[in-house]
Amino acid sequence: MKNIFEIECRDIVLRELGIDDLDALYNLTLQPEITDFLPDWKATKQQRRDWLINFHMKNNREFFQAVPSIDKEGLILGIILKETNEFIGWCGSCIKDELPPPNREIFYAISKDYRGKGYTSQASQALIKYLFERTNIEELNAIALLHNIPSNKVIQKCGFNQIGTIEVDNEEFNYYKLMKKIL
Ligand SMILES: CC(C)(COP(=O)(O)OP(=O)(O)OC[C@H]1O[C@@H](n2cnc3c(N)ncnc32)[C@H](O)[C@@H]1OP(=O)(O)O)[C@@H](O)C(=O)NCCC(=O)NCCS
Repeated sequence: MKNIFEIECRDIVLRELGIDDLDALYNLTLQPEITDFLPDWKATKQQRRDWLINFHMKNNREFFQAVPSIDKEGLILGIILKETNEFIGWCGSCIKDELPPPNREIFYAISKDYRGKGYTSQASQALIKYLFERTNIEELNAIALLHNIPSNKVIQKCGFNQIGTIEVDNEEFNYYKLMKKIL
C-alpha cells in the first residue's frame, strides 16, 4: 500500500489529499465563509478534479521528492478531524509571488462548522515545525486582511512577528514573518 504522508497533532491529522477527497474538498470550497476570504478557491467540480490530479497531487509529489532541499515547491495538506476522520480544511505553504523574496508563505482554511476550536492553530504550528525541522526553509511569511481577526490570531499564535502592512490585489493585509530559530 502507498505510504501516505501524515503529521499527527492533538485533535487533528494533517495528511496528503488524494482523489477520494474530491467531494469533501469541493464542498468546502462552496462555503462563502471560506471563499469570501479566498476567492481563488472558487471552481466547478470538474475544475477542482483537474486541479487535484494535475496540479495539487503532482506538486505535493515534487515537494516530497525535493525534501530537504526545497526551492519553489509547494505543499498542501488536508486537516482531518481525528474523532470522525472528516476532512475539514487545509493548510499549506508555497511561494507567494505578490510578496518580495524570500516569499514563501503559509496559508489555511477550515470549514465554518469547526472554527474557534484551535484546529487551524494546531495545523499551522505542526506544518511550520515540519518545514523548519525537515527542510532547508528558514523563513516564512503570512498575510491576513486587517479585518480577518481569526486569521491574524492564528498567525500570531504561531509566533509570527508583524513587519508592517502590504497591499495585494488592491487590498491591505497585515504582513508577518517567522524565522527558523537556530539553537
Ligand atoms: C482563519 C481560519 C482558518 C481560523 O480557523 P480556526 O480553526 O477557527 O482558528 P483557531 O481556532 O485555531 O484560532 C482562531 C482564533 O481566533 C479567535 N477568533 C475567532 N473569531 C474571532 C473574532 N471575531 N474576534 C476575536 N477573536 C476571534 C478565536 O477565539 C481563536 O483565538 P484563541 O485561540 O485565542 O481563542 C478560519 O476562520 C477560516 O477558514 N477563515 C476563512 C479562510 C481564511 O481566512 N484563511 C486565511 C486567509 S489569510
